[in-house]
Formats: sequence, structure tokens, C-alpha cells
Amino acid sequence: MASLNRDSRRQRLQPLAASLVAVALGFGVASAQADDLPKLVTKTPLKVGFAQTESNNPWRLAETKSFKEIAAKCGWQLVMTDANGSNSKQVSDIQSMIAQHVDLLVFPPREEKPLAPVVLQAKKAGIPVILVDRNVDQSVAKAGRDYITFIGSDFIDQGHRAADWLIKATGGKAKIIELEGTTGASAANDRKKGFDEVIAKQSGMSIIASQSGDFARDKGRQVMETLLQAHPDVTAVYAHNDEMALGAIAAIKAAGKQPGKDIQIVTIDGTKGGLDAIASGELGASVQSSPFFGPLACDVAQRFAKGEKIPTWVKVSDRFYDKSNVQESMQYGY
Ligand code: AHR
Repeated sequence: MASLNRDSRRQRLQPLAASLVAVALGFGVASAQADDLPKLVTKTPLKVGFAQTESNNPWRLAETKSFKEIAAKCGWQLVMTDANGSNSKQVSDIQSMIAQHVDLLVFPPREEKPLAPVVLQAKKAGIPVILVDRNVDQSVAKAGRDYITFIGSDFIDQGHRAADWLIKATGGKAKIIELEGTTGASAANDRKKGFDEVIAKQSGMSIIASQSGDFARDKGRQVMETLLQAHPDVTAVYAHNDEMALGAIAAIKAAGKQPGKDIQIVTIDGTKGGLDAIASGELGASVQSSPFFGPLACDVAQRFAKGEKIPTWVKVSDRFYDKSNVQESMQYGY
């Protein structure tokens, strides 16, 4: 019941994107001390580097679109790259933006550790950085000291919410396969931590296998195919994103089982494909993970340029979708 209350409170508190930064900035976690950080010039256009990790799923495409759409409104001239799923390419893309002397760098670090040193390189070159979506290893580069802020969801809480739903859906009895996101990504690390710690407290539930599907639909399908053969007794799947859940649904059907009946599935993202699968009954629930960081990054940059203190984490609050609200929530799918 506690989690039901928590979810309904969240549903009521969903802020609109426009008011999100104001809400987040109003409730400070620790604030960034601008003294240590490179300054942000105020000029139009502002040359902003946006280094995307990959473009292989609707979430990434929606994130990129959000930056393209805000650029004109915010007076940004965007320099954009796509690392095609490679940490080393994302690092070299960012290094090239540093060499071009962009005024501001904004990027989702693909993995926590490999992308941390380049944040320090940007700082050394006098370029302010805003991280969006995923964070870097805080023992190497720290928000508020080495970069302005991290704008993103609470991935641990997303894992908690997915686990809470699964406990209710299965009456606290399940043999779970976990499909993890990209190994080393903060989204995968924290979604696993949050989910696993809640499930560990349930005596009737166990995670019988946990393997990376790299946040990709086809990889999720392949991993699920293999794990289904090794664990035919599986009764639930927790996928770290909708794309892998959709891949798992294909594998479950190919094995002659019914997703949503023989096997309950819970996931994260809230894509259009995820919402359609909830409507058809194959997917049980999806915790939203908003990819719409463009307006937030614009607002943070403008406030930072004016000398305002920015919290070290601008937390994005996320919706929750299941069969009870999927029809009226279709408008939020992407
Ligand atoms: O970091 C966020 C995750 O990355 C999204 O859940 C996933 O779909 C994307 O690739």
C-alpha cells in the first residue's frame, strides 16, 4: 500500500517541462559554487556542443530532437555528434568540440568511468559542462566543482518503482529475469541497485538471472531467448528499458508463452512502443524516464550565465504507466 500511495502522489505532482527547472531549482540538493567553474559567456548565438551516445532507439531520438527544438528558442548554434555506441568515439567527439572552443558542452555520458576524464579536460580548457540523462563517476569529476550540474531522473527510484509494481502484480511471488542496460552506464547501475534492493526483501521473489541487453531491442531479444532456455520456470521480467522489454516479449512469444499472462513484465522509459504494449496487455508497466532535457538545459545555462547558483542535481520527476492510466497517457509516448 505504501508504494501505491507513493505512486499516486507522484502522479499528482507531475510538473510540466516548463516548470520543472523552477521546481528543481527551488528545492536545493547541494548547490553548484560557480566560483570554481568556468564562466559561461552571454552571446547569441551561443556555440553549444551536444555529443549524443547513439541513436538506436526512440529514447535517444527523442532526446536529440529535444535539443534540436530548443536550440533556436535558446539562441544556440548546435554542434552535434553521434558516438554510435562507442565510449572512445564519444570522448573524441567531445575533445574535438573542446578544440573547436564551443562555449558550452552538454552531453549524456555513455558510461560513468570512461567519460569522466573528458569533463576535467573541458574544465581545464575553460568550457562549462552540463551533463544530462546519465552521470559520471563522482570520485573523478564532481557536479558543482568540475561541471555545472547533472540534469536527470533518479534511476534508483525508478528501480524501486518497478519493483513495487511487480510485487503487487505477482502477489510477492516471482522468479525474475533481469535484462540490464549498458554495463557501466549510471542508468544501468542504478536501475539495478534500486530494483534488486527492494526484491531482496521479498522472501517469495528471486532474481534467477541478470544479464546485459545493452539497452537495445534485438540484444534484449537474443539474451531473453538464451535465458528462457536456461530458466523455463521464469515468471517475471524486469528490463531496464522498453526496447529490451519489447525484444523480450518477442522472445517469450517465440517460445510459445504469453507475455502478460505466463510472464509479467515491468520496464522503464515510457516510449510509444512501451505504451502500446501496455495497452495490448503484453507489458505490465513502465516507469517513465523523460528524455526531454533540451528546455531544462537551456534554462539552467541561462541561470548559470546570470550567476545564479545551480543545484548539483536538477532532478527530473517521472510518470508511471500501467493498464489503469495507459489510455490517457498515450499523449506522453515518444
Ligand atoms: O540513460 C537512459 C537510457 O538510455 C534509456 O532508458 C534508454 O532507453 C537509453 O538508451
